[in-house]
Amino acid sequence: MKKVAVIGGDGIGPEVIASAVRLLENLDVDLEFMPAEMGLECYRKTGHFIPEVTMQALEQSDTCLFGAVTTPLDRKQGPSILFLRKHFDLYANVRPVKRLHPSIGLADLDVVIVRENTEGMYTGIEHADSDGVTLERRVTERASRRIVRFALELCRREGRRRITCVHKANAMRMSDGLFRRVFFEEIEETEIDLQEMLVDAAAAALVLRPKELDCVVTMNLYGDILSDEAAALVGGLGFGPSGNIGDRYGIFEPSHGSAPDIAGTGMANPVAAMLSAAMMLRYLGESVEAARIEKVIRLGLERGVRTADVGGKHKTVPYTEALIGLLEEV
Ligand code: NAI
Ligand code: MG
Repeated sequence: MKKVAVIGGDGIGPEVIASAVRLLENLDVDLEFMPAEMGLECYRKTGHFIPEVTMQALEQSDTCLFGAVTTPLDRKQGPSILFLRKHFDLYANVRPVKRLHPSIGLADLDVVIVRENTEGMYTGIEHADSDGVTLERRVTERASRRIVRFALELCRREGRRRITCVHKANAMRMSDGLFRRVFFEEIEETEIDLQEMLVDAAAAALVLRPKELDCVVTMNLYGDILSDEAAALVGGLGFGPSGNIGDRYGIFEPSHGSAPDIAGTGMANPVAAMLSAAMMLRYLGESVEAARIEKVIRLGLERGVRTADVGGKHKTVPYTEALIGLLEEV
């Protein structure tokens, strides 16, 4: 039996994660759930953003399903998911984006964005001086190499035929230039179709020529922005799952945040959390049941079982129960 640490977090995090867990409980998989707390609500209750017991639960588990935590910008931030990514060295952020039904979204995308998760623009190292702030943007050969290798391996596993390196080496010649060089070195002898694109062109290509992109490997900030754009093109943030994966652990989470504007209203779309659970099942080797999650969401969309963000009437809990009712058909 595999152990899954379950962290709902703040806002709609606990709502969408409860839905994903309900769905998992109705599948043919043997999982033990280990609920744990983290985030702003947890801080208010316990005085800690990530209590020691939560770290222990994570350490004892095989993987983690994570909702979202609120990170207020107007005060000193508590540890966010960035802390866990660092702690477990989850260097690959994997974001598959696929349109599940022609009636939703704007573009017929089926792309996986593999984003470097540990450096680039998100080092968090900033120095203030009398007139401004300088950010340390770090690009290393080691991190670039392992993310390119990870993306290549993913292409082989998933049968993806093209890999696109997205960078901005025309402007950032040394740093992005390093990433680009490593990409071409690593994939010298591969049967996969290679391509490179500047990040601004990639942003346009997602909209104008979605079929051209299959697997994108890119740096931290570019991947963050492109993946939200891609999710918007297939129906919105409610359809964007993600995995933070390292060599010894993986944390799976919807790419949206805690959505305080709709928290508690029952309006949250749990699909991104459910698709994240499907990614988690694949990570655990349960690909058949993972595919059933995608199938049942598609079937729901076809039958009008959908949440308000995609023109439906279902609130979070009834939506989840309706999908469970459809499970025997997939
Ligand atoms: P957000 O993703 O929470 O919300 C953006 C917009 O999309 C909102 O209008 C929201 O209602 C809508 N939305 C998001 N998820 C939805 C869903 N499942 N169903 C229906 N509508 C949905 O981003 P925002 O508002 O910028 O951030 C809110 C908080 O979340 C912030 O404190 C931020 O720092 C945090 N955050 C945390 C993340 C994490 O824990 N990994 C990731 C992103 C943001
Ligand atoms: Mg983002």
